[in-house]
Amino acid sequence: MARSGGSWSVRVKTLFIALLVVYISVPVTLRLFPGLLAQIVFFHFFKVPFFVDLECPADLSLNHTVNFYLTPEDGVTVGVWHTVPDSQWEQAQGKGLPWYEASLGDDAPVIIYLHGNGGTRWAVSHRVGLIKMLSAAGFHVLVLEYRGFGDSTGQPSEDGLTTDALQLYHWVKAHSRGSPVCLWGHSLGTGVATNVARKLQEQGNPADGVILEAPYTNIREEVAYHPLGLIYWLFPGFEYFFLDTIALNNLVFPNDENLKTISSPLMILHAEDDQVVPFHMSQELHKIVLQSRSSKDEVRMCSFSGSLGYGHNKIFKDPDLPSVLWEFLQPLAQR
Ligand SMILES: *[C@@H]1O[C@H](CO)[C@@H](O)[C@H](O)[C@H]1NC(C)=O
Repeated sequence: MARSGGSWSVRVKTLFIALLVVYISVPVTLRLFPGLLAQIVFFHFFKVPFFVDLECPADLSLNHTVNFYLTPEDGVTVGVWHTVPDSQWEQAQGKGLPWYEASLGDDAPVIIYLHGNGGTRWAVSHRVGLIKMLSAAGFHVLVLEYRGFGDSTGQPSEDGLTTDALQLYHWVKAHSRGSPVCLWGHSLGTGVATNVARKLQEQGNPADGVILEAPYTNIREEVAYHPLGLIYWLFPGFEYFFLDTIALNNLVFPNDENLKTISSPLMILHAEDDQVVPFHMSQELHKIVLQSRSSKDEVRMCSFSGSLGYGHNKIFKDPDLPSVLWEFLQPLAQR
């Protein structure tokens, strides 16, 4: 008995030491190879399921969607899906890109969806769920596959993602005639959305509208609050090993700073039980926006009670969302 008890405690000790070594080597490795942390933030190499043909959205239960590519920069090709309002699904059968382009001018509001990290425009179920909800509600939806993600070429970076989304916005504006075009960012994509809105503001043509779903204040604070970051909350040098490493990669995604400069109508959506981006970050952003604008009637904050269980990804399931969106988007057409 005594002997087996002894080997048991040796095993526990060995396991403990092994875990400790792993725990310590993660931050050290990230600091030695700062690019790794950027890979984790974007998580673009996570392309499962692998054998999906993004060029054929009709095979993926989106029968009124066309796939096309833009070239935001020499050598970079990014994939885009355009889904027309559900009511046009029969007309859309067998149609090519010209028909879809022309449909953008039909007065229905257009939403450019900028997804969060990881996966592709299809591979994560909540993205397809959101596309279907928006299409059923009567909107056009354009989903961008940032560079380095899915079938898009190139490597992701904050500037790169922003360039891709800005290019798509200009492309849509060139085809949408009077229809309002709204940027919709989710999670990591909220930083892309406000970067683009800020650029448009600087160019003198503010975005028609901006919707931020589960936004963070800036990527540095988000990493500190992320469940994976929390594991290292008490690690000596947390700032040095993680947060400063984020900065080394030129990742800022400053929603808080950007929102001070943007005048576009803005709606924030956030579930109180979000475990990935804490709800209080939206409250902080809302406060910043109210302080920085003289006209507050174009700012909305929609929170969703934790009892609904939407968490980080499932706000699209809310049965009232279509009418909330129409209330926000309808007036933009008359501006
Ligand atoms: C095509 O998609 C529409 C909208 O989602 C759906 O209502 C319809 O049943 C689909 N048609 C076919 C043939 O799958």
